[in-house]
Amino acid sequence: MSTPLVLGTRTIATPDDMNALGQEIGRTLRAGDVLVLTGPLGAGKTTLTRGIGAGLGIRGPVTSPTFVLARTHPSLTQGPPLVHVDAYRLASALELDDLDIDFAHSVVVVEWGAGMLDGVTPSWLDVLIVRPEGGGEHDLDDDLVEPRTVTLTGHGPRWRA
Ligand SMILES: Nc1ncnc2c1ncn2[C@@H]1O[C@H](COP(=O)(O)OP(=O)(O)OP(=O)(O)O)[C@@H](O)[C@H]1O
Ligand SMILES: [Mg+2]
Repeated sequence: MSTPLVLGTRTIATPDDMNALGQEIGRTLRAGDVLVLTGPLGAGKTTLTRGIGAGLGIRGPVTSPTFVLARTHPSLTQGPPLVHVDAYRLASALELDDLDIDFAHSVVVVEWGAGMLDGVTPSWLDVLIVRPEGGGEHDLDDDLVEPRTVTLTGHGPRWRA
């Protein structure tokens, strides 16, 4: 296994900025790419995924998949579809494998998928979203706009370049 490569860290002030970052990332993605989004409840994983979807030009809306584990959004532009996975209720990588996702022909974004991709795919991009410390009782207040720190780390040959 190759050493993970830290690609960069950014401070994201607002939900709109998170969406814009997603669009920026989405425009660089291609079929076969896998992203793992890690961060606490309300960190902005789905907000980022919405931007990624916009950058890819897929059919929305990208929502929090409550009853489905994986939702496929077809491309509006002949590009790869976006497969949006919520692994919150998945126990293991084995269950992720059971979803029979067409990794080779899709862009796959997995919320709560940390540690599940090793052995499923050779390369993936880890996206870590951190909320500021000391929020106190506001920590779970979804309406509060406050900065997030987003760190991208590449695993495997795809992210060497
Ligand atoms: N800087 C910011 N970046 C992203 N979202 C922010 C920011 N500041 C405030 N928010 C708010 O935080 C919430 C993020 O919700 P979102 O559904 O994207 O999180 P999530 O990580 O997918 O949560 P879950 O773990 O429930 O799936 C939204 O209500 C958004 O408006
Ligand atoms: Mg979410």
